[in-house]
Amino acid sequence: MNASRFVRISACVLVALCAGAAAAQDLPDVIILATGGTIAGAQPKEGDPGYKSGSLSVDSLIAAAPGMDKIARITGEQIASIGSQDMNDAVWFKLARRANELLAAPWVDGIVITHGTDTLEETAYFLDLVIKSDKPVVLVGSMRPATSTSPDGPLNLYNGVAVAADPMAKGLGVLVVSNDDLFAAREIQKTNTTDVQTFVSPNRGQLGEAYYGKAWYFWKPTTVHTTASEFSLDGLETLPRVDIVYAHENADGMMVEAAVAAGAKGIVLAGVGDGNATAAMVDALAAAAAKGIVVVRSTRVGSGIVRRNIELNDDKLGFVAALELNPQKARVLLRLALTKTSDAKKIQGYFDRY
Ligand code: DGL
Repeated sequence: MNASRFVRISACVLVALCAGAAAAQDLPDVIILATGGTIAGAQPKEGDPGYKSGSLSVDSLIAAAPGMDKIARITGEQIASIGSQDMNDAVWFKLARRANELLAAPWVDGIVITHGTDTLEETAYFLDLVIKSDKPVVLVGSMRPATSTSPDGPLNLYNGVAVAADPMAKGLGVLVVSNDDLFAAREIQKTNTTDVQTFVSPNRGQLGEAYYGKAWYFWKPTTVHTTASEFSLDGLETLPRVDIVYAHENADGMMVEAAVAAGAKGIVLAGVGDGNATAAMVDALAAAAAKGIVVVRSTRVGSGIVRRNIELNDDKLGFVAALELNPQKARVLLRLALTKTSDAKKIQGYFDRY
């Protein structure tokens, strides 16, 4: 090779390397916090039925979703390795505190949290209420394990990273990306045991779409979340006990009394219809409310609004109406509300605004 050709090629390589480095420097920084779930699930042996969720590390999840390095500079951290049916206060506190710590760092642009789908809606809403940042926080899961013939996790993760890296996702509260759909934490609900298209937002609809890394946003949440939320974990190690009781034909007050005996500070009714229950169950709930336990009426129906004083006189019974929140979401808000007050009227105020 003659000298001038060598100089030309070297210059080209240098320009390309510098351009690559500059491009890499321009990428947003996204942290992936892994907690387990089916997205990290593996079959013990190929071809065996069943799988164990939370088996794979965050690094394996990142390696399985090629192309993410073109949209963000990614760092992975393992927070837990559990199936989300085992989600608990210890992991919630660790996750929320680490997320808040990272989001406060100027170099961090967004966070993705990998999570099992069973309780994903509860964790998403909990974080929506205790995250103190307007930077994007996006939860992703999957319905099929990583070792399945056609796993849905890698594309969910890819889209989750794209949304977490997107400045347009700022200020929308905690989001969830699943199967190309984008959801607000407060609105998302799991509706199918095994279907890839399991998540819906029955009352307000999905917030947008995330399709091969490009996001569309249809609307903005109007309820209080993240930076405007009054709730904080400062000084707390756990949250007050709140139990959910399920209404059904011929129900007596036994489950309510059991919750009271277990030390519940609040009880959420997964009521029939518009948050209703048998007279015996309502009597037991009224007795609990009279003792200072906060009773919130939600519904097992799956959609709609449980309003105050329609068929039951909440004013007289001392109850709180959950409005749009399903029982599991109402439980999250009630636990946080109980860190502030046990006054049912004030707690109704939280349900009105959050
Ligand atoms: N055990 C469930 C969980 O981790 C599996 C369901 C899933 O992740 O999709 O939530």
